[in-house]
Amino acid sequence: MRLSRHFPFISLAAGLGLAEQAAERQHIFSNPPVSAESSYRIPTAYESAVLGRRILALTPLGTLSTVFPSSADGRLSGEEHRPAGLGGVPIGLVDYVADCEDDGNPTILAINIATSFQNVKHGSNISLAQRWTPRYPPDKRIKSSFLDRLIGREEESEDREDPVPYSAANLPRFALLGYLEKIDSASSEALAACFVDKHPDAKYWLPGNKIHESEFVRLVVTQVYWIGGFGDRAYIGWIDSADWKNVTREEWEAVRLPGEKKGWKEWSSSTLSDL
Ligand SMILES: *[C@@H]1O[C@H](CO)[C@@H](O)[C@H](O)[C@H]1NC(C)=O
Ligand SMILES: *[C@@H]1O[C@H](CO)[C@@H](O)[C@H](O)[C@H]1NC(C)=O
Repeated sequence: MRLSRHFPFISLAAGLGLAEQAAERQHIFSNPPVSAESSYRIPTAYESAVLGRRILALTPLGTLSTVFPSSADGRLSGEEHRPAGLGGVPIGLVDYVADCEDDGNPTILAINIATSFQNVKHGSNISLAQRWTPRYPPDKRIKSSFLDRLIGREEESEDREDPVPYSAANLPRFALLGYLEKIDSASSEALAACFVDKHPDAKYWLPGNKIHESEFVRLVVTQVYWIGGFGDRAYIGWIDSADWKNVTREEWEAVRLPGEKKGWKEWSSSTLSDL
């Protein structure tokens, strides 16, 4: 077993040839060719869908991306304050999400005046990006003692404040592409209970509140793009939306994501042992 199986960066620092370094690096952001010898079993697209559905179930925030409409002056009537010339420009805004229908289509409480929903109303497509955030920092971090020595931060590294105390590039994230669909108001009460359970403050802008017009919508997923982590151990690519929707609660409840429990190691691939 090569050292680089568990510590690819350390082996880089230990002095791989240039060609080898390039080869190691290029599998961080893409999967190695099928013919290449891999030290890990890369999860299938379906196994990745199961992990993704768990992320959706456990992650109450996401970024909604839409584009501004290209009306003649780049603005909509009543929006005099928006700068001109933004037609077709994308904007990503964080919003509350909940997995209330448990079928792969995220539930969103759309405030009609909010930019994301205004853009959709005027013809924009929409996507939702989410990422997995570990609950605890890893016991063992990916770090380069070589680099630390080089820039002289070896001693202080113990109590250095760290806004991202894990390797975010090696953690799963995805984008769900699709369209918004109003959810029948008959289910409003159940949805409100589910949504407020995830987001207690959202009780102030539930449908029927006195300040903002709002409604529950689902993002009907038509495409799923997935980046599971480093490409030598995680799947990177498209997931069939039928697979995404077919994942059952039983399946996503049986898997674990990195850092759900204390004492995890940053280099281990996803815990797929139960799949
Ligand atoms: C929405 O996406 C479709 C492709 O699925 C594209 O044809 C259309 O132009 C897009 N709409 C906008 C407003 O960009
Ligand atoms: C959905 O899952 C069931 C069993 O879990 C399987 O039989 C079926 O083929 C799957 N459908 C799709 C579209 O993947």
